Amino acid sequence: MVRKSRGLRRRVASLRERLQHHNHRYYVLDDPEISDAEYDRLLRELQELEALHPELVTADSPTQRVGATPVAAFGEVRHTLPMLSLANAFDDQEVADFDRRVRDRLEVSEVEYVAEAKLDGLAVSVRYEAGVLVQASTRGDGTRGEDVTQNVRTIRAVPLRLLGKKIPRVLDVRGEVYMTTAAFERLNSSQRERGAKVFANPRNAAAGGLRQLDPRVTASRSLAMFAYGVGESAGFRLPGTQSELLAKLGEWGLPVSPERAVVTAVEGCLEFYRDLNARRHQLGYDVDGVVYKVNSREAQLRLGQVARAPRWALAHKFPAQEQTTTVIGIDVQVGRTGALTPVARLEPVKVGGVTVTNATLHNQAEIERKDVRVGDTVVVRRAGDVIPEVVRVIPQRRPPKTRPYRLPKKCPVCGAEALRPEGQAVTRCTGGLFCPAQRRQSIRHFASRRALDIEGLGVKLIEQLVAGDRVRTVADLYRLDAQTLAALERMGEKSAENLINALEKSKTVSLSRLLYALGIPDVGEATAHSLASSLGSLDAIESADEEALQRVPDVGPVVAREVVAFFSQPHNLEVISELRKLLRIVDPEVVSTGARLAGKTFVLTGSLESMPRDEAKSRLEGLGAKVASSVSKKTNYVVAGSEPGSKLDKAKALEIEILDEEAFRRLIGAA
Ligand code: IVH
Repeated sequence: MVRKSRGLRRRVASLRERLQHHNHRYYVLDDPEISDAEYDRLLRELQELEALHPELVTADSPTQRVGATPVAAFGEVRHTLPMLSLANAFDDQEVADFDRRVRDRLEVSEVEYVAEAKLDGLAVSVRYEAGVLVQASTRGDGTRGEDVTQNVRTIRAVPLRLLGKKIPRVLDVRGEVYMTTAAFERLNSSQRERGAKVFANPRNAAAGGLRQLDPRVTASRSLAMFAYGVGESAGFRLPGTQSELLAKLGEWGLPVSPERAVVTAVEGCLEFYRDLNARRHQLGYDVDGVVYKVNSREAQLRLGQVARAPRWALAHKFPAQEQTTTVIGIDVQVGRTGALTPVARLEPVKVGGVTVTNATLHNQAEIERKDVRVGDTVVVRRAGDVIPEVVRVIPQRRPPKTRPYRLPKKCPVCGAEALRPEGQAVTRCTGGLFCPAQRRQSIRHFASRRALDIEGLGVKLIEQLVAGDRVRTVADLYRLDAQTLAALERMGEKSAENLINALEKSKTVSLSRLLYALGIPDVGEATAHSLASSLGSLDAIESADEEALQRVPDVGPVVAREVVAFFSQPHNLEVISELRKLLRIVDPEVVSTGARLAGKTFVLTGSLESMPRDEAKSRLEGLGAKVASSVSKKTNYVVAGSEPGSKLDKAKALEIEILDEEAFRRLIGAA
């Protein structure tokens, strides 16, 4: 009996350790070693054992992330060391002034700094005692914050127990809770669909998520965190520099932004700033600037602080992502699925360095919620690759005699009735594929880079082909001949021939790309990939019912319903049966055995001259490789373009093979 229970304890401890390890690989290093299914199996086993033996449950067990009981209100937490804020700089001169002040005070001629991405979220303090997460709090007024322990525990990237053997007795980790752009988009589109509150930006959404009284709601918001410093600590000698401190936090299993580097003097700071500013929209999360911190901790202590901000750090802000401008008109666009999208035509305005002339208003419900009218002064926001949107109206600046806007009752392209079903936010044209707009969009999507990648089939050309009734469905594309094409406007013999070749090349296509290309509502690249690799063939997907589809990872009831609906439309089946005759569809098993780079992990840094980063990524994935976002011992190759970031240094330190652009092109067969 005693022996049995010792074995049981050992099994529970081993499961916890393994789950903690794999959680760290997945959420912090972005480099998993096992499949999701395998992880789930381990977690389920632990859950079962804990259910049978509740006395074995501990607070830091991976099963205990989401407590089931909502709190009535947040308690108050007094920070043992205050949570400071930062002085801001808005131009290069202010950075130079800061550096001069630091040099003067330290009486040195040159200073070493750490430049870090300034994450746009909310500051939190997470307290570990003997390595176990015991409390988490918001910044509040810097001295007192709110107790958000239950909510921070739901953030998968935050370890419930620190990794490693040498751990401080007390460690207050300071960091930023944020939401990735992808999670933000997902959240807002589901909120929009349900007619619920839509968030203005990822920061507000993260704040809303963290301040939920019910931790189950927080858990559903997929928040993330990056650690950037330490408050109180005891029982450990902290490293002598900020850069080593960040590395140490990483070793303890905490997520630390890879966007950081040790730099010297103003030039080094500004170089980092310019590089990050150029790449800020590719990071996948919002950063609103760069923080420069004097690297030496001893120097930091000598510099001290003024008011509530340290003299040894400075926030250099990026140009704002929000601006105000006026609405000169509202146009209506018709999408691939017939959705009518109102788009505000704007007085051109520069937002974050790019001129914006249009911004989406999403749908009728959103227009009503924000009450956007022609003539209004509005706040527009542009973030990442996301389409600029109207965030809100400034009511004080509304001119007299404006009228509320209503979407038209007929499709502006084909004249068919436009309907908004009860309880739905979106108004749709009922013209189906008779509507030229829907046809154009579905062909555009089919030919796009991540779908069939038909080079040379641009928007203008598609418009001509649809208008002339030469192409009614995507299958018709493969019946075009060079003569017909050459006779079109702005097409010569050469470009006609190129297009025919591109069409020919696109005929061999992986199942997952084809699925994505079909434009089934709610089936993006990831879902298409998941469907293809789980079900294996177009036949299997076509004949799967909702129940079978929901067994596929990532596929919920909504997607399952859309897939079944898509494959039950006679028109779609007709097109698919034609495509089967025209294309060579490569099923997933075949793709992976032929994959030259299967099992290899790549990390990309800097920019490539000859292709955008997402193309490099999809090419690698097409060859079976995995592309990770940070360098670790598991990385096989680092591809370094121009102006590489700190990943290159890390790769060198770990002696990982580094490929320049030319070597990379040769490897993928693009040279
Ligand atoms: S250091 C003593 N580092 O910016 C220094 N802050 O404007 C305190 N922030 O409240 C902050 N990224 O929420 C630091 N890499 C970073 C940061 C960062 C974002 C936030 C933090 C702070 C605010 C100050």
